[in-house]
Order: sequence, then C-alpha cells, then structure tokens
Amino acid sequence: MTDGTGSIGPTAHYTAYVWRRLGLPYAEHLATPTGAALYWGFFALGEWTTRVVPGVPTMRDYLAYRHLLIDALVEELAPDRLVELGAGLTPRTVQWALDRGIDTVDVDLPEMIDVKRRALAGMPAPLRQRLGERHRLLGLDVLEVGFDGRLAAAIAGAARPVVVAEGLVSYFDLAARRSMFGAVARALRAVGGGAFIVDLHTAVAQARVGGATRALRTAIRGLTRRPHALDPFADAAAYERALVDAGFDGCRELDAADWVRQRPALAGLHSPAHVVHAWVE
Ligand SMILES: C[S@@+](CC[C@H](N)C(=O)[O-])C[C@H]1O[C@@H](n2cnc3c(N)ncnc32)[C@H](O)[C@@H]1O
Repeated sequence: MTDGTGSIGPTAHYTAYVWRRLGLPYAEHLATPTGAALYWGFFALGEWTTRVVPGVPTMRDYLAYRHLLIDALVEELAPDRLVELGAGLTPRTVQWALDRGIDTVDVDLPEMIDVKRRALAGMPAPLRQRLGERHRLLGLDVLEVGFDGRLAAAIAGAARPVVVAEGLVSYFDLAARRSMFGAVARALRAVGGGAFIVDLHTAVAQARVGGATRALRTAIRGLTRRPHALDPFADAAAYERALVDAGFDGCRELDAADWVRQRPALAGLHSPAHVVHAWVE
C-alpha cells in the first residue's frame, strides 16, 4: 500500500453517510456508524462555518454537486462497464449493476474493499442475488506499478468503458496524480478508448470561496492526517495539461447548470470543485 493513503479511508465512511442522507439509491446499505460519528464530528470541527458564510457550499452541497454531476455524465455516456477508483462505500456501482444490469467494478485499497464486502453481505438476500457477478470488488492500490494492466483487464471487452475517480485524486501529490492519470489513459487506450470522470481542485476556484475552504481543508487534514488534502492544481490549464500529458486526447469541465434537466437536484448547487470528463478516443 502507498505510504499513508490508508488514512484517507475514514473519508469514505463520511461520504457514505452523506450519500445516505441525500437518499441516494442503495446508500442505506453502505452507510456505517463510523460515518455518522465522523459526519457530526466534522461538523463540530469546522464544517459548521459553511452554514453561516453566505455563498459557501456546505459539505453536503459540495459532495452532492460532484456526485450528481458525475452521475449525470455517466448516464449520458451509457457505459457497458463502469469502474470506480477509490470507490470506498459509494452506492454508484451497485446502483448501475442492479438497476441497469451492467458490469461494474469497485477498486479500492484491500482494507476498504473488506469493509465494503462486509456491508454488501448485509444487504437483503434478493438484492445480493441480483447483484451477483455484475458487481466486482478489486483490492488494489491505484498508484502501484502495474495498475494500468490491472485496470485494462477490468475493462477488457467493453465497448464504452467509463472509469470514475470521485474524491480520490486531490489526496495525492502532483507526481502521484500524474502517475494515476497515466495509468488510466494507458488502460483506456489498451481497450480501444473510453472515458474518465474525475473531480479536481484549482487554487483559482478555491480562492473564490476563501476562508471557509481553509476551514474545510484544515478539518479534512485533521480527519485524514495527510498533508495533501485538497492541495489544488494552479488553474484549469494546469489540470488540462496534466491530463493531456498523461495520454488523454481531450478533456472538458462540466457546468452543473447545463445538467439540471437530467438531474433536477443539481439546481442551486455550486462548488469550487471541477468535475472533469477526459477521454481516450
Ligand atoms: C474520499 S473517499 C471517496 C470514496 C467514494 N469515491 C465516494 O465518493 O464516496 C477516498 C477513497 O479512496 C481510497 N484510496 C485512497 N488511496 C487509494 C489508493 N492509493 N488506491 C486505491 N484507493 C485509494 C480510500 O480508501 C477511500 O475509500
């Protein structure tokens, strides 16, 4: 395992609790008591400031923005294989496997995969049976040498593979981000192309929400004990360069306002996070 990345794990419990509070399908099977404790602890640690500063998204809105926007794009891309990297306890892959009948794969560090396996084992038997082989769990470090080959194997044979990394990349330093982008681009190219959807941060966007972002960053660093939580790219040009240099043929940033028709819950949500669609043709 990459040094220290296991400490990001608590954030997966946190977001799983938010997905449950948002009422996302199947989220109730994946939320944990740890997530509830973290959610309210985080509120006390600094998240409350977002509730009183006008124009600043609450943590719940910030997470809903990126999750729903990613969902809207996944819907439009209509994948025949969906892989989520740093999947944690997200219900997305379970939902796509159960409701759309497509093959999905969750990739995370082995200890988090064990947590998810236990959570899924607690789902009602009819759901577990329907999920069957459609949903796979892969315990892998996305920064490991050889990850590109493992990912290529996971998407082999798919005509429209989509790889999602939600809430993962910002915890890595720039070199690790580049290495992960490169692995995803090589895997997509090896199978004839596909899409990568990722949320990224820039200093420019964070400066717009100012003080509350600093409070959130401090709180997230406290939670994960990591120095790099939400250390941003300088601006959109910097992440575009990083993606193209890594082997993607192009990328675009999504604007929630353009997706409200597909996902009405996006109305009124805003966030300093950039949801980015990159592709290999
Ligand atoms: C903030 S959580 C996000 C979980 C999920 N994507 C969501 O949005 O609910 C980050 C996840 O990334 C995983 N992770 C961290 N470093 C990783 C690595 N090197 N390889 C694979 N997964 C990793 C953590 O275990 C954790 O589950």
